[in-house]
Amino acid sequence: MSIDIIDFDKPVPKHVAVIMDGNGRWAKKHGFAARLKGHEAGAETIRAVLRACDNTGVRYLTLYAFSTENWKRSKTEVAGLMELLRRFLIKNIDELIEKGIRLRAIGQIDRLPNGTRKELERSIEKSKHNTKLDLILALSYGSRTEIVDCIRQIASIVKDGKLAPEDISEETVKQHLYAPDIPDPELLIRTSGEMRISNFLLWQISYSEIYVTPTLWPDFREDDFYEAIADYQNRSRRYGGRKN
Ligand code: FPP
Repeated sequence: MSIDIIDFDKPVPKHVAVIMDGNGRWAKKHGFAARLKGHEAGAETIRAVLRACDNTGVRYLTLYAFSTENWKRSKTEVAGLMELLRRFLIKNIDELIEKGIRLRAIGQIDRLPNGTRKELERSIEKSKHNTKLDLILALSYGSRTEIVDCIRQIASIVKDGKLAPEDISEETVKQHLYAPDIPDPELLIRTSGEMRISNFLLWQISYSEIYVTPTLWPDFREDDFYEAIADYQNRSRRYGGRKN
């Protein structure tokens, strides 16, 4: 299988969101006691998926890298993930910039440890003029928290008398989510076979096609990404409207 399974006469999703799951199982399967080995291998997969986005013309890629719930994992795993992210940015940011990638983040970034947060902010700043592909990392991200933050902002505007409750629209809500300018993902990929959304982009995925593969995230490669895009192209998207 290769990129040839994609029909470039049909639309390719502009925005793909991914729940990267299965790192722990991958580590276990390969006999590693430390789950972090799986996360390290998973970080390499990100590079492969970025190449696949480049080859297919995907404009936005959102990766669920750390959820608000992930803070409950062991101290060692959390610290390891944060250090992995810091090192990933140091190692890859120049290459990402060369490839025209703009790094962005959604989530409660101020909860990240200082070293990781600073590296992230530096990378975001350094890559901010790039326009080929937005790589959006969801970090300390939870969709319900995002919606609560959004409601608080809108409530405060209403309280100040600057907006009437009856004028609140879907567009108003969108404008107060973490990244208002980013279009909703047309395709959501989840690896490692679980049929769950896990508090990821609940508002934004209302009409997304969902593609679940049994492949564990560290084993996911360009061809798996192309397969997901081809699968998406073979679905008919009706948004609850006309039936074919
Ligand atoms: C889920 O696998 C994955 C995570 C909680 C973290 C995802 C992180 C990475 C892919 C690497 C680091 C990210 C960057 C941006 C460098 P799991 O641990 O829940 O797997 P399991 O369900 O098999 O236990």
